[in-house]
Amino acid sequence: MKKKCLMLGVGGMAHSWIFDFWARQAQRMEFAALVDVNSDALKTAGEKLGLPASALFTDAERAFERVEADFCCIVTPPRFHRIAVELACARKMDILSEKPIAASWEDAVSITQAVQKAGVKMMVTQNYRYTPRILTLKTAISQLGQVNYAVGRYAGDYRARGSLGADFLYQMAHPLLVECAIHHFDQLRNLTGGDAETVCGYEWHPGLARGAQNSFEGSDAFAGQPCALFVVQMSNGAFAHYEGSNVASGEVNSWHREAYRVECEGGTAILDRDDKVWIVKRENGQSQAREMATVAVEFDGHAAIANQFLDWLEGGAAPITVLDDNLKSNALLFAAIRASEEKRVVNVREMLTKAGIGA
Ligand SMILES: NC(=O)c1ccc[n+]([C@@H]2O[C@H](COP(=O)([O-])OP(=O)(O)OC[C@H]3O[C@@H](n4cnc5c(N)ncnc54)[C@H](O)[C@@H]3O)[C@@H](O)[C@H]2O)c1
Repeated sequence: MKKKCLMLGVGGMAHSWIFDFWARQAQRMEFAALVDVNSDALKTAGEKLGLPASALFTDAERAFERVEADFCCIVTPPRFHRIAVELACARKMDILSEKPIAASWEDAVSITQAVQKAGVKMMVTQNYRYTPRILTLKTAISQLGQVNYAVGRYAGDYRARGSLGADFLYQMAHPLLVECAIHHFDQLRNLTGGDAETVCGYEWHPGLARGAQNSFEGSDAFAGQPCALFVVQMSNGAFAHYEGSNVASGEVNSWHREAYRVECEGGTAILDRDDKVWIVKRENGQSQAREMATVAVEFDGHAAIANQFLDWLEGGAAPITVLDDNLKSNALLFAAIRASEEKRVVNVREMLTKAGIGA
């Protein structure tokens, strides 16, 4: 029996979900209905899929009332995730949601409570864990003993409005942290093997830091803060440093080209924008570099998430990025925002405990 999907959103990322990642699972799933507030985009996607008009909704509430589905796939902007999850929980529908869980810590906690109360399954899309370059880096790290610290760099030249993606990214608060760094914070957990204990550092707007939106060339495209530097203390004795920028004017490490350097007991694992993973070790007083063979997988990135989610619904093992685990990455994200606003070290574990979820 194919699983029936209620798809929320048919925009930029959802287009890839519908016509690429889900298309590769056509033998296991089908679309029951689509929802999007943009009726033109909805009609176009519906026609391409051959869905009847009765399966196209501009109102999510109405769709959840009428549609029989096994799960919903949420690919709307983060501030609309909570209402969609609450509607799914009321219908006891399992959920696959794009990152981040929500646009605020309060919404992320509310979502977790609703999902736990309803007893439904929820997985969050952290596709970057499953790219061959990161799987190769993980293999390298596994050969080097304990992790001392990891350094992550994401830097894109997105100074032209629209070049980063949907316009909401240029209008929202904390665009780098909420929309982009959630992937990198989750990755730093993945690479160090620890959860965040504390975080300190800053996000900022280079123009506003100098007094006006346009007082730093290129940064005026963003209403919110496009830059960040943070240090994270992990639960297993490791540390992490994150550098993020959406207004890079020279050296770039953009999407799928992020740089990570992981310093371990037995050497360093290095990945840069050329996708090559190196192990560097000190031998006889000299640094020796060895390139790692790239790990090959049948499903990578988003396709791996779709595959893991359907396996889970069909009785397989729970994926790593289930809601309860992913909340720890979101706690780090919202703790980082708080750390910057309040100019202090924020205890991430305490945030989870206070929310009644526990680290
Ligand atoms: N994992 C990744 O690599 C990745 C990449 C890009 C975006 N995303 C995530 O995907 C989600 C969507 O981002 P996007 O870039 O596709 O945005 P988008 O603006 O291109 O598309 C969002 C769509 O949602 C629709 N929409 C808005 N409010 C709605 C509502 N209340 N009900 C139904 N539809 C609604 C919009 O009309 C639009 O068609 C976000 O959570 C974003 O973080 C993830």
